Amino acid sequence: MRRRSFVQLALLACVIAGAATAVAVAIPWLPVSAAKERDRIDVVYWLATGIAIMIFSIVVAAILFSVVRFRAHPDDDSDGPPIHGHTKLEIVWTAIPAGLVTAIAIVSAIVLHDNGIASGKDPLRVAVTAEQFTWSFRYLNGEAKGVVSPDLYLQVHRPVRLEITSKDVVHSFWVPEFGQKQDAVPGQVNPLVITPTKVTGLGRSYPIICTELCGLGHALMRRAAYVLTPAQFASWARTARGQAAPAPSPAPPSSSGGASAAGARVFAASGCSSCHTFTPAKATGTVGPDLDKLPAEARRAGQQLEPFVRESIVNPNAYVEPGFPKGVMPANFGTTLSKHDLDALVQYLVQGSKRAGT
Ligand code: CUA
Repeated sequence: MRRRSFVQLALLACVIAGAATAVAVAIPWLPVSAAKERDRIDVVYWLATGIAIMIFSIVVAAILFSVVRFRAHPDDDSDGPPIHGHTKLEIVWTAIPAGLVTAIAIVSAIVLHDNGIASGKDPLRVAVTAEQFTWSFRYLNGEAKGVVSPDLYLQVHRPVRLEITSKDVVHSFWVPEFGQKQDAVPGQVNPLVITPTKVTGLGRSYPIICTELCGLGHALMRRAAYVLTPAQFASWARTARGQAAPAPSPAPPSSSGGASAAGARVFAASGCSSCHTFTPAKATGTVGPDLDKLPAEARRAGQQLEPFVRESIVNPNAYVEPGFPKGVMPANFGTTLSKHDLDALVQYLVQGSKRAGT
């Protein structure tokens, strides 16, 4: 009789485990993996999921079995048998979970260690800066050395070590397909290694998502990560370096050609396009006011165009265009931009909005 009960209990547990496994395996709970690090993390996930299914099925089987088998009759008011502790059982149900948790801890520690190493030949290094509400990526070595980009371009199977920091508040870097998150903290550099395994090309991308509530634009703080073939990456790097080449020419702000190229660069590097529309920069953001309409906005504020633009960058809460909330535009550009860059940006916006507005 006891043996038959045990067999019934075991069969019930197997049925429940089968159903739980089907739910775990048949539904794609996570986005596809596109990085070696993510594959390793998935091993830990599956280990923990397997353990959870095992315990779940044993517990649910025991409950269902007991409910049916030991049900009291409606007229049975007697007490159950007096039961004291069962030392052997208590040792078993302490030792088994302790062993399982230790196993997960050991596997996790190995994965964490391996995921922290940018192995392989010629790993890339990229400085990542988060700010309200965009990202910027500065290439520290390799073919793209010196390039600053608002999106992340990677080469398939070539590890990259991101060195992540923030200009203002705490943000967090996350690409679901790469499977890891890393905080971006002001005054601190946090590393994150990614070894991409799937090529997206330039027509498709993975989303880079800020996953730390960082202000009103948090939900829109998104950029793209592209994974390229070695040839595509080299060609992108060549083009990007070509565009970045005339950077350190300290042209006087009055010479309009140099100033406008410098202004365009500051506009791109400061992430203005993630929040604003500005036709000369092909920017289409809608979080903040439309910069094509700056002349009309300056008239509404009762100011001359150039001082209005400058004040709106340095002290953005002095005048806020009706229909937009206060305190969204970062107030620190006056300290993070050099005077030369600020002048170039102001000129770029003044000239560009005059042209766009006509
Ligand atoms: Cu940056 Cu949320």
